[in-house]
Amino acid sequence: MTTIDRSRLAELMDRERERFSRTHPRSAALSKDAQRSLLYGVPMNWMTRWPGDHPIWVAEASGAHFTDVDGIEYVDLCLGDTGAMAGHGPKVAVDAVAEQAAKGITLMLPTEDAIWVGDEMRRRFGVELWQFCLTATDANRFVLRLARQVTGRSKVVVHDWSYHGSVDETFATLEDGRVVSKYGNVGPAVDPALTTRVVPFNDLEALEEALFDGDVACCLFEPALTNIGIVLPDEDYHRGVRDLCTKYGTLLVIDETHTICAGPGGYTKRYALEPDLLTIGKTLGAGVPSAAYGMTQAVADRVVAGTFWHEADIGGVGGTLAGNALSLAAMRATLGEVLTDEAFDRMEELGIRFTDGVQEVIARHELSWHIVRLGCRAEYLFRPDPAKDGVEAAAGQDEELDAYIHLFLLNRAVLLTPFHNMALMSPATTAEDVDRHTSVFAEAVDELVGG
Ligand SMILES: Cc1ncc(COP(=O)(O)O)c(C=O)c1O
Repeated sequence: MTTIDRSRLAELMDRERERFSRTHPRSAALSKDAQRSLLYGVPMNWMTRWPGDHPIWVAEASGAHFTDVDGIEYVDLCLGDTGAMAGHGPKVAVDAVAEQAAKGITLMLPTEDAIWVGDEMRRRFGVELWQFCLTATDANRFVLRLARQVTGRSKVVVHDWSYHGSVDETFATLEDGRVVSKYGNVGPAVDPALTTRVVPFNDLEALEEALFDGDVACCLFEPALTNIGIVLPDEDYHRGVRDLCTKYGTLLVIDETHTICAGPGGYTKRYALEPDLLTIGKTLGAGVPSAAYGMTQAVADRVVAGTFWHEADIGGVGGTLAGNALSLAAMRATLGEVLTDEAFDRMEELGIRFTDGVQEVIARHELSWHIVRLGCRAEYLFRPDPAKDGVEAAAGQDEELDAYIHLFLLNRAVLLTPFHNMALMSPATTAEDVDRHTSVFAEAVDELVGG
């Protein structure tokens, strides 16, 4: 196996940093101006987390490409970390948004699009009754409340190393078998050990132990971990999860926000999962804030029975702009005409092409790295074989290599998702886009370990 020469890596990193500064003067100038009125110099704190001395600033985006303020056009494999999985500005969605904006953006009254989108969500995911909101974080927060309300139980179970948005209960991790607050948890309301049990992914024994006391309202699970590399479930894992939830009267919530990459009905439809509730956000409205949570008829009956009708507006589930006319128009156009069943077939083919290309480079150089794919999403990780849980995946992170590959790609006009090495295919992505990544990735590796 090839080993990485760390001093060579540091040398290359210096060279790439210098190249980045030289080729992005306008972004550098805007980053300086932004210090005046933006906290951290960016509109949202995590936009600082790019390699290079400052973020690149965007001039415009279209399809699977965007152009920065220095006039460089990039292949975008990040796609707004799934927010733009439908591609940037698909024409049908833009037209529908423009048309709806002119007719009313938000009214606190339903529009007909809501019925179309509800029916489509039901068809896609097989879960019967739906509500709409603006972010996946909100969808998750609302279902946790509903699950606690209908079960009369307080605890929530999440996977170790999972991420479900900025939801208080989910900021928990395992340390020597104990539940502790995740490192970096900003201003926790309470110690997450009070609200949450944490189990390793793919560990049914640990899950049974967590559910045994009968005080768990719900499990909030991604079908595959996607925020610490991609960690796929063992073959019988989801059957076991479903059976244990049923046995202990715990509701099963599946978060499809990222795993929608597995197909039009997400991992749930593709692998016949049977969640009690399902959440999803990010991509539904082609980037217009849109999210949804659905539930089975059986759960809906319990929810309705426990509803405080008069206090519905202040009960902790909802939001003034949730379910607004604009986001429903965007969802209808996106689901109806952009992220279609046929589009997913093409996107998956590109995912396979991407994976094959990276795999070939890894094999040629005998690197102890691997790549995992889930539908149209793929991610490479710096360990020899697929991780079976979050701890193993975390051990496969390598911040130096990560930064080098991201910056090398960025300097050659390819954008990978920050924080990890994830690439996503949109309906607008082409084989040439994928091949561009493969050749630049090969170049980055050649330079590092010799061609
Ligand atoms: C699986 C999953 N669920 C929920 C969220 C939260 O999405 P948002 O930040 O759009 O609320 C994320 C964000 O990355 C996610 O990966």
